Amino acid sequence: MIQVAQLGAFRNDGRTRSRSVLERRFGPRLSVNADFTRRTVSYQGNKDVPGFRWMKYKEGFSRELVLKLVNEHDPTAVLDPFAGIGTAPLVAAGCGKYAMGIEIMPVGIIAGKGMVAAANGVTSAEFDCAARSLLGRVRHQRCAPPEFAFPHVRITEGAFPLCAESEIGKARQFIAGVSDSSVRRLLELACISVLEECSYTRKDGQYLRWDYRSGRPQAKTDFGFIPPFYESLSKRLDEMLQDFSALKAWYGGGRPELVKGSSLSVLRSLPANRFDMVITSPPYANRYDYTSSPWCNRGFLRFQ
Ligand SMILES: C[S@@+](CC[C@H](N)C(=O)[O-])C[C@H]1O[C@@H](n2cnc3c(N)ncnc32)[C@H](O)[C@@H]1O
Repeated sequence: MIQVAQLGAFRNDGRTRSRSVLERRFGPRLSVNADFTRRTVSYQGNKDVPGFRWMKYKEGFSRELVLKLVNEHDPTAVLDPFAGIGTAPLVAAGCGKYAMGIEIMPVGIIAGKGMVAAANGVTSAEFDCAARSLLGRVRHQRCAPPEFAFPHVRITEGAFPLCAESEIGKARQFIAGVSDSSVRRLLELACISVLEECSYTRKDGQYLRWDYRSGRPQAKTDFGFIPPFYESLSKRLDEMLQDFSALKAWYGGGRPELVKGSSLSVLRSLPANRFDMVITSPPYANRYDYTSSPWCNRGFLRFQ
């Protein structure tokens, strides 16, 4: 049985022939679960949840939803072929299940593995020490050499105020020198998660809107206060440190497999009947390209 949330996708308007064919085939296997609310099936339910609040991934569903489904059905092995930031595999693994997530977007894997690292390998003392050193580097050291400058692509040129651009270079230089890959991942995640708010841009679907202060022609919007990179990073690192104990309690010992790639190919390589439960929210059936967001999928990730 497939449980679904009753959202817009099930409205009757715009029905096409192929859609009717799919509905005839799978309709009898669908049940609409009235217990799911907009809060459980969207990111809203994760907004203040330790770990998930680090990366505001609006396409995600909530920890609460996965807990509910896993507790109700008690599966052995859970798969999410469109794992996003890893909500389903992380939470299911935390419940003692074998769990795998497949995600095409690098930042999803970074976020998921970051939470796993905080829950398992890295201690809060190690993270605290690395975070302080990073902040010290960003605040006090001289500019980083040009090779550590933010790797802009054409559409991100001029996205940061000059001071942020310089601080980002210093952060990149520091992170490149961190030898522990789990600590490095957590620091990268912290930096990536604040890039947008420190920039003159805001993600709008797969495009960027620009603030007038960027000096870009036609940029007229005023995003209000744009925090310095150091300030945002410092807040995020604090928040991450605060969340360590909850993550260890909830997911410690759980080792979800987070696979970076397309489920179109990865699924073919998995043994049949490996999973007895799939919890997923597939990509929207439009032309939205999840991999195209410059803040999520470029920049700091180039270290990898
Ligand atoms: C609606 S989101 C799922 C969010 C997830 N439930 C969470 O809580 O974070 C759909 C995800 O599917 C991913 N995706 C799209 N095409 C994919 C593919 N071919 N293989 C794997 N992941 C894919 C997108 O990058 C996106 O993160």
